Amino acid sequence: MKHSLIQDQMKRPLRDLRISVTDRCNFRCSYCMPAEIFDKNYAFLPKEHLLTFEEIERLAKIFVQLGVKKIRLTGGEPLLRRDLPVLVQKLLKIDGIEDIGLTTNGVYLVKYAADLKKAGLKRVNVSLDAIDDELFKKINGRGVSIKAVLKGIETARTEGLEVKINMVVKKGMNDREIIPMVSYFKEQGITLRFIEFMDVGSTNGWNFDQVVSKKEIYDIIQAVYPLEPIEPSYFGEVAKRYCYVGTNTEVGFITSVSESFCSSCTRARISAEGKLYTCLFAAKGFDLREKLRSDATNEEIAKAVTEVWNNRKDRYSDERTEETVKNRERIEMSYIGG
Ligand code: GTP
Ligand code: 5AD
Ligand code: SF4
Ligand code: SF4
Repeated sequence: MKHSLIQDQMKRPLRDLRISVTDRCNFRCSYCMPAEIFDKNYAFLPKEHLLTFEEIERLAKIFVQLGVKKIRLTGGEPLLRRDLPVLVQKLLKIDGIEDIGLTTNGVYLVKYAADLKKAGLKRVNVSLDAIDDELFKKINGRGVSIKAVLKGIETARTEGLEVKINMVVKKGMNDREIIPMVSYFKEQGITLRFIEFMDVGSTNGWNFDQVVSKKEIYDIIQAVYPLEPIEPSYFGEVAKRYCYVGTNTEVGFITSVSESFCSSCTRARISAEGKLYTCLFAAKGFDLREKLRSDATNEEIAKAVTEVWNNRKDRYSDERTEETVKNRERIEMSYIGG
């Protein structure tokens, strides 16, 4: 099966696939899965609705035929999915996959880093929003100590996995942690990336005033640790990269709000139940699970994906206004995995 590479309405190719493997998480970060909403009565996806590893592998092969080179596994918390290293190994065997990443909160790396490394994984992105233990316990909503995450990071590095840290900055929540985080991870030679707080979903009470922009964060860091820019390593790279002057250690900024990057967005997303989304801020997905569980051939599924991608016009972050934030329906972050 060979397909020609596909393009959307803005001539953007399909290059990256972000696959969510579960909508559950062991944390309840207030800006992502507020505990009042994601409580014991919340209806998470039943197991039989989740794509199996075989189904994910089949889809990944189809997407590679259409141009995907990079896969990222997300959640919720992807390491809550049993035997995740087995999936990593299956995906890495696919001809044409150049890179697989995993975005995790880090707690279960203590348990799984060795198996992930053995499966062939090279790198993980760990979400961590504070280095102060009391604050971190509050943010994660489950009272988990920072020690659990730091131990996960250490285990991953000992096993030979490259680690990057993602810090979402929300005004009044953790902006005072910018310098402490920089000092800690600079010392360790670990890349730290700052993410502008985004209006994903409709449960996190987002408004423009809570965003700390790249420029504000940059100025805070620059005053203490001077930075110099690094050229992007590929077209469409999400983070704007810098290094601390005189070192190879990097800092990145993901500027969905202040400098959107939709014009080079080559990412498709598949939810844990097999819906295909063409934007992080989309309201509706295309049901691939139904196709997988029917008697559709790979050719037919590829054709359906091609059609969805060919029709794609999404550029939510370019268009973001008070009006879109209030009135457009959007899926939740924990459902689509960021
Ligand atoms: P690398 O391959 O290591 O650069 O990973 P990545 O930055 O693509 O993935 P990661 O899961 O670490 O995402 C970091 C942040 O960028 C998360 O908050 C994502 O939600 C955000 N992000 C990733 N892709 C997009 C996108 O297409 N649009 C927007 N608005 N945000 C994105
Ligand atoms: N805005 C920005 N980033 C977010 N994340 C979760 N919710 C938001 C939001 N509203 C981050 C997580 C993780 C990544 C996948 O997305 O902290 O690092
Ligand atoms: Fe927090 Fe990530 Fe879990 Fe959301 S998915 S609650 S950001 S750890
Ligand atoms: Fe891509 Fe949508 Fe993010 Fe724009 S807002 S970069 S189109 S996922």
